[in-house]
Amino acid sequence: MKKCFNKMLYGGDYNPNQWPREIWQEDMHLFKQANINSTTINVFSWAKIQPSEDTYDFSELDEIIDMLTKENIDIVLATSTGAMPAWLVSKYPETARTDYEGRRHKFGQRHNACPNSLVYQKYAGRLAAKLAERYGSNPHISCWHINNEYGGECYCESCESAFRVWLKSKYQTIEAINKAWNTEFWGHTLYDWDEIVLPNALSEGIGSDKTAFAGISIDYRRFMSDSMLENFKLERDAIRIYDKQTPITTNLMGTYKWLDYFKWAREMDIVSWDNYPAYDTPWSYVAMCHDLMRGLKNQSFMLMEQTPSQQNWQPYNSLKRPGQMRAQSYQTIAHGADTIQFFQLRRSIGACEKFHGAVIAHVGTGNTRVFREVSQLGDELAELGDQIIGAENKSDVGIIFDWDNYWALEYTSGPNADLKYVDQIHQYYKYFYDRNISVDMIPIDADFSKYKLIAAPVLYMVMQGVRESLEKFVEAGGTLITSFMSGIVDQSDNVHLGGYPGPLRQLTGVWVEEIDALAPEVHNSIKFSDGQEYMCGLLCDIMHPEGAKTIAEYSSDFYEGTPAATLNSFGKGAVYYVGTQPEQAALARILAIAADQAGCKSVIGEDSNLEITCRFSEVNKYYFIINLSGDKQPLPKACTGMIDILSGSVLSAETEVEPFSSFIVKEKI
Ligand code: GLA
Ligand code: ZN
Repeated sequence: MKKCFNKMLYGGDYNPNQWPREIWQEDMHLFKQANINSTTINVFSWAKIQPSEDTYDFSELDEIIDMLTKENIDIVLATSTGAMPAWLVSKYPETARTDYEGRRHKFGQRHNACPNSLVYQKYAGRLAAKLAERYGSNPHISCWHINNEYGGECYCESCESAFRVWLKSKYQTIEAINKAWNTEFWGHTLYDWDEIVLPNALSEGIGSDKTAFAGISIDYRRFMSDSMLENFKLERDAIRIYDKQTPITTNLMGTYKWLDYFKWAREMDIVSWDNYPAYDTPWSYVAMCHDLMRGLKNQSFMLMEQTPSQQNWQPYNSLKRPGQMRAQSYQTIAHGADTIQFFQLRRSIGACEKFHGAVIAHVGTGNTRVFREVSQLGDELAELGDQIIGAENKSDVGIIFDWDNYWALEYTSGPNADLKYVDQIHQYYKYFYDRNISVDMIPIDADFSKYKLIAAPVLYMVMQGVRESLEKFVEAGGTLITSFMSGIVDQSDNVHLGGYPGPLRQLTGVWVEEIDALAPEVHNSIKFSDGQEYMCGLLCDIMHPEGAKTIAEYSSDFYEGTPAATLNSFGKGAVYYVGTQPEQAALARILAIAADQAGCKSVIGEDSNLEITCRFSEVNKYYFIINLSGDKQPLPKACTGMIDILSGSVLSAETEVEPFSSFIVKEKI
């Protein structure tokens, strides 16, 4: 159990530099009133603290840090390198990115520095070092926040040269590159490293998100993720010269596509992330993102940002209903968060985020619904203290999430444009979520032996070693579930020959001969042995059992009567193969067979429409009981007679759980 903090940080992004001094004092007063104990500062202040190439001016930041220190407010100190100052881009235009269409950008916006610009690297590293030298010994700095929401891409000449260097170290020879990218196709054979160009709209790109050569495009993604990670490491190492121990993070974005977060997390002391669901995002999806963020380091994480009320950048920025922010915050803690932080503490007056919710609204007082809700939660968290910090979530189920697969599956041209990686993973996650069966989101190289059941839907790319580790897991008695579009390609997106699902053929006990693609209006159906039929769509594998038993078969079209879902025995374990996308109830039926057989149970051992999660400290279990269903719900029997530590009241059999109600029940281990 790792504890990065000795109290639950409660606060968020704070930009006093956008306001006159009188307002700062009001802020301090309002923060106390709301039990806010932490602020994230200096996220976008580069232009302020370095007004020109040769001058740094920390006077305002000194004042802000002094003020917060006096008020005993913790500081999450950002390095400001997420938005470049105008002078930097004007003097060194190569610090700005070149986009997918090949256009070099000018000064503007943020999150747009070329990660391979030596000038950007020099000044970003220098700024981080200066901040650490100046403030690194302040005990109120509880965390370093490098940059902000790394992401995006660059296609400039510096990136092109750096890509060639990256490729040389990976492949050594140009022949190896030709083989990996299958360049004989369309006669793209390369004879010299300098012939390699970045795969954007001017070269191999097809439309905005497809490619003629997935091999090069996937390598470019790996390279871009690594390039930005190098930026992170550069700042981190600069900070570490002066500050040896304060945890260092950068804020991630859940299932954000373009950074391999498992690789990133290895370089971070603690994962933090920004949670911005839309009005219609399923709660199961939010929970999956939290579990993924916890899974990155298999450790509790920080909620770096959420809005207390509404966003501005979605098409429909609905308000969080009364109680919703509280429920959502407890959901976050339930899945492993040790902090609750908002974007932002005071609503800005201009530019594109003036409609973004904040703890302090434009009215400027604490007399708002949102402020009252923030204060109430602040009181509760203060009361809770540090008992939950570092407490662990324990799961028998692991779901594999893999960025190489994410990129490769979605670059692929065919068989069905509607096939989306995260959507597939979520369908499997949702089954366990709906039953309150705890899930860990795990990397492809996780220690599988900890789990009873592993789900690896659309495991399209099977790299070296994966077959062996999955076989070992099942042989020893584990249950594996996989699906259509699995085992198809190697790490370079070249097909494993000899019939699908390639290296998983023996394990699954099936040979997939053809894959039918169904347009949204087209359906097939699958039939179980009791005659019960359900719809299916998207893709239909036409397969031949090679040792596997049929669980359900197609009930129409020319492949009527052939298997749609199968079960294979392998060693002491079992492998389920789901060859199509069945409607949720049918997938649930298949997953129920698998989960029962594997002995995976809900955290409270009974069905409930409430979300129930458990975290384990060294001495206690904490059950989080949250109503995200939209309707009143009965309390599960297992919880009657227990005390809700948030309100102090006893939960009785008659307790009706109102929408957005949240309880925490504590039990000695
Ligand atoms: C992101 C950024 C913040 C802010 C919020 C608005 O998460 O990190 O600076 O722009 O979005 O939702
Ligand atoms: Zn670049």
